[in-house]
Amino acid sequence: MKILVTGGAGYIGSHVVLELCEHGYDVVVLDDLSLGHRDAVDNRAEFIHGSTLNTADLDKGLNGVTAVIHLAAFKAAGESMIDPGNILTIISPAH
Ligand SMILES: NC(=O)c1ccc[n+]([C@@H]2O[C@H](COP(=O)([O-])OP(=O)(O)OC[C@H]3O[C@@H](n4cnc5c(N)ncnc54)[C@H](O)[C@@H]3O)[C@@H](O)[C@H]2O)c1
Repeated sequence: MKILVTGGAGYIGSHVVLELCEHGYDVVVLDDLSLGHRDAVDNRAEFIHGSTLNTADLDKGLNGVTAVIHLAAFKAAGESMIDPGNILTIISPAH
């Protein structure tokens, strides 16, 4: 079973990826490394450097995948105060 973890290079995601690999799952990570670290991703996982906001990257990440664990995020509340336009683009790309 192949599982896509978005944000898999982040704090929570990298631990989820490690656990999935330890339990024998095929894991693919989609992360744009805006906040995460490539070195945090378990070597057993496939890594795609890309964004959930990019359709081509998503298509690549979803190829052959049975389940998705979506952890890509800008979690700090302050970011929406500093750059609200960017957050609006993420929530609703048509803006
Ligand atoms: N850290 C906590 O204690 C905690 C607790 C409960 C819930 N959460 C939730 O878990 C999720 C992940 O939190 P975290 O602490 O791992 O954050 P994090 O910042 O460490 O990881 C987020 C990851 O998402 C990536 N990312 C951001 N936008 C992306 C995009 N458009 N496409 C691809 N990758 C993208 C970043 O590069 C980063 O690696 C958030 O939704 C957060 O609210 C976190």
